[in-house]
Amino acid sequence: MFLQTVMVLLRAEGMDSCPQMAWAEYHQTVREVLYPARDLVLACGMSVGYADPGVPRPAMPRIPLSEAVTFVT
Ligand SMILES: Cc1cc2nc3c(=O)[nH]c(=O)nc-3n(C[C@H](O)[C@H](O)[C@H](O)COP(=O)(O)O)c2cc1C
Repeated sequence: MFLQTVMVLLRAEGMDSCPQMAWAEYHQTVREVLYPARDLVLACGMSVGYADPGVPRPAMPRIPLSEAVTFVT
């Protein structure tokens, strides 16, 4: 949810992002580059920038909102 908040704020600023938990697997390598404090654990990485609309991207299937969410009024 924290990541989502950052991602939504980035969109509001016209920027794009890509969270990747796979970075956690390479925590040792990341530690050698970023020197984080010893008491921190790498949970996730996130690329931030401007998407290139000219680059083709694979279509990620999504179920319709109505299948995932029930709005109770
Ligand atoms: C918390 C989180 C962690 C993610 N980790 C990975 C990852 O480790 N590797 C990966 O290929 N995609 C990962 N994804 C998916 C990509 O960030 C991205 O959502 C996916 O490529 C689909 O792109 P789209 O949401 O713009 O359609 C993760 C997504 C979330 C929300």
